[in-house]
Amino acid sequence: MARPRRYLVCEPRHFAVHYAINPWMDKDAPVDTARAARQWQALIRTYLDHGHQVDSVPPVAGLPDMVFAANSALTLADRPRKAFGALFHAPQRRPEAGEYATWFKAAGYDVYQPEAVCEGEGDLVPAGRYLLAGTGFRTTREAHAEVQEFFGVPTIGLRLVDPYFYHLDTALFVVDDAPGDDTGNGTGEATIAYYPEAFSSGSREVLRRLFPDALLATRDDALAFGLNSVSDGRHVFISPTATGLIAQLTARGYLPVPVDLSEFHKAGGGIKCCTQEIR
Ligand code: ARG
Repeated sequence: MARPRRYLVCEPRHFAVHYAINPWMDKDAPVDTARAARQWQALIRTYLDHGHQVDSVPPVAGLPDMVFAANSALTLADRPRKAFGALFHAPQRRPEAGEYATWFKAAGYDVYQPEAVCEGEGDLVPAGRYLLAGTGFRTTREAHAEVQEFFGVPTIGLRLVDPYFYHLDTALFVVDDAPGDDTGNGTGEATIAYYPEAFSSGSREVLRRLFPDALLATRDDALAFGLNSVSDGRHVFISPTATGLIAQLTARGYLPVPVDLSEFHKAGGGIKCCTQEIR
């Protein structure tokens, strides 16, 4: 069932591709900033139309990737007022952490500053009783240990092996939170969707064991940013070109809501990257 969410976003006023820190980014391929702004506004309108709360962080000139709010922190529903902050891998993005930390502090959170590289919900994905934690390109194993110590939630490290899927949230998303935490509608694990080939063989096996009922996406759906989706438990805000995944979600009774963020794909980001969930 849908549960109202609170999302933190950052307007793409200064969004551009000025450097290349993932294979999607090409400094010579121009971003249509007016189109990006329209696409982003449509995403926000869609969240509001579905009853979700949207907060925003003021954008900062010179930080073109700041629109990707999901990289800023992690909060958990049963850990009130605690935020695990970010330490970005790329020097170009490092100043974003302080901007977001300021927002979280003003919102009443104690912000922990990690010592190891950690890119927030880009690599840290709460899935029921576990915290799934990506590594391989950005967030480090040391950060996984830090976040487990901070929240006391069993943290499952997953190794990403394909540079196109450099953040966990480009290769996996939670379709349905585990019943029993916030939703209370049953027992069992969260329902997730992922692209198996984005993971090392051992990590793939871990996912298979923990989530035997997961939706498995094709490479085409993953390249369409279909796994960079946001779900409220019923509506799945998803890239319209991830057609195979949209069909699978529909078959399972979810309601895919297409939102096109193709201008942001040029920076290696999609719907989820632009959306930090505040728990
Ligand atoms: N250009 C940004 C980077 O490479 C994109 C971040 C996308 N965010 C995400 N949560 N996957 O850091």
